[in-house]
Amino acid sequence: MGTLEGKRIWITGASSGIGEALAHACRAQGAELILSARRMSELERVAAQLASDQKPTGITLQVLDVSDAASIPDIVSSVIAKTGSIDILINNAGISQRSYAAETSLEVDRRIMEVNFFGTIALTKAVLPDMLARNSGMIIVISSISGKFGFYLRSAYAASKHALHGFFESLRMEVWQQGVRVMMVCPGKIRTNISLNALKADGSTHRSMDDGQAGGRSARELADRILLGIRRNEEEVFFGGPEMKAVWIKRFFPRLFSKLIRKQKPE
Ligand SMILES: NC(=O)c1ccc[n+]([C@@H]2O[C@H](COP(=O)([O-])OP(=O)(O)OC[C@H]3O[C@@H](n4cnc5c(N)ncnc54)[C@H](OP(=O)(O)O)[C@@H]3O)[C@@H](O)[C@H]2O)c1
Repeated sequence: MGTLEGKRIWITGASSGIGEALAHACRAQGAELILSARRMSELERVAAQLASDQKPTGITLQVLDVSDAASIPDIVSSVIAKTGSIDILINNAGISQRSYAAETSLEVDRRIMEVNFFGTIALTKAVLPDMLARNSGMIIVISSISGKFGFYLRSAYAASKHALHGFFESLRMEVWQQGVRVMMVCPGKIRTNISLNALKADGSTHRSMDDGQAGGRSARELADRILLGIRRNEEEVFFGGPEMKAVWIKRFFPRLFSKLIRKQKPE
């Protein structure tokens, strides 16, 4: 029996990368899944791979654009009515950025905030009342090491991830006595399509696999690490390659960090 047997887990951004890997890892541990993203065709591809396992039931696909906040309350109500209460919400959907702050339109900054920050909190606020009513539940947020320090070409992305930490650290304090847990995940470089889908200054997509991304850790390794974090009831999970040292250098030696980080390749 898997460690997530009987748990119902909603994963956003499940059509690709980290979300897709989380779907496989959670499924392997016996979870029921609700998989969301904007592209139903890609969700169906993921579900078809999952359904080749022993237990083809218990997978619900739900198209969801997290930046469409107005649609979220009705979607959450209909999902809960159909599947039952959500035990674990994994807020993973996100977009990155590859553009200098001075050249990036405010519209692009807002788009990144709408998906990464407002989309995440809108879905959380819609799922939370049912968790609070049951005195049980876990909310996981896929942040980034960009939620711990800024970097070249990531001004709005880093802002959106920093904002998540402020919001969810406050929420954690507010709901722990009612049995709801909050876990923040800070990955370094993970090999996914994130750089292909990242927004440039004019809002078009970057469409290029960065060297750092291509050399990153696998999404499946990260998914397994997140599942370990769930079992250990961790509040923050860090996972990646040598770039993770920057988090600790910034925390303990901020001036040294500032000198070292500006020597890194802007990509
Ligand atoms: N890869 C890394 O190195 C890395 C590092 C740190 C943090 N992260 C974070 O990990 C998360 C997943 O990224 P990834 O690396 O797996 O990238 P990815 O392969 O590009 O996947 C992004 C996922 O988000 C979904 N998505 C994008 N916009 C959406 C929207 N408006 N509404 C709903 N879903 C949306 C996409 O699905 P559709 O296009 O079908 O909607 C896709 O499933 C992101 O939050 C990212 O910031 C990634």
